[in-house]
Amino acid sequence: MKIITNTSEETQDEAMKFAKTLKGGEIFGLIGDLGAGKTTFCQGIAKGLGIKQNVNSPTFVIMKQYNIEGNSNISKLIHVDAYRLDSSQGLDAIGLPEFFARDDVVILIEWPQNIKTSLPAKTKYISFDKDKKKRIISYN
Ligand SMILES: Nc1ncnc2c1ncn2[C@@H]1O[C@H](COP(=O)(O)OP(=O)(O)OP(=O)(O)O)[C@@H](O)[C@H]1O
Ligand SMILES: [Mg+2]
Repeated sequence: MKIITNTSEETQDEAMKFAKTLKGGEIFGLIGDLGAGKTTFCQGIAKGLGIKQNVNSPTFVIMKQYNIEGNSNISKLIHVDAYRLDSSQGLDAIGLPEFFARDDVVILIEWPQNIKTSLPAKTKYISFDKDKKKRIISYN
């Protein structure tokens, strides 16, 4: 899948559509440079899953959890920013691995390259490329 967007609203709209295809148990690594639109995409996914709270970058707290009401399959969204992590740091300290096997949780990880060796094999990757206001979002 390859999506091209020209505004952050379009990126959020595409992410909302993408969210509707999720069943629970998915783990996504979002790969792209600073400002590529990873957090914007996460905000759209959160909206699409019915989360009303504002979703901001968890740069300093590393991981945020959002409970989801009224979705029969997905009870929680986890949003991780691994920008400040590296593979030598155990993920247990932030409490992430306990969610890897949960089939009622969706996990979104920005900068997954930094913790790649600690992520489960089922992790899928979405790439964000940017050119001025254009964003190319690719997903296999
Ligand atoms: N088509 C677009 N899609 C998404 N964001 C866009 C687009 N055009 C411009 N932008 C702008 O690009 C920025 C994307 O920021 P965002 O925080 O989503 O990036 P990020 O990939 O999460 O960066 P970081 O690595 O710093 O966390 C925002 O300022 C947004 O307004
Ligand atoms: Mg971000």
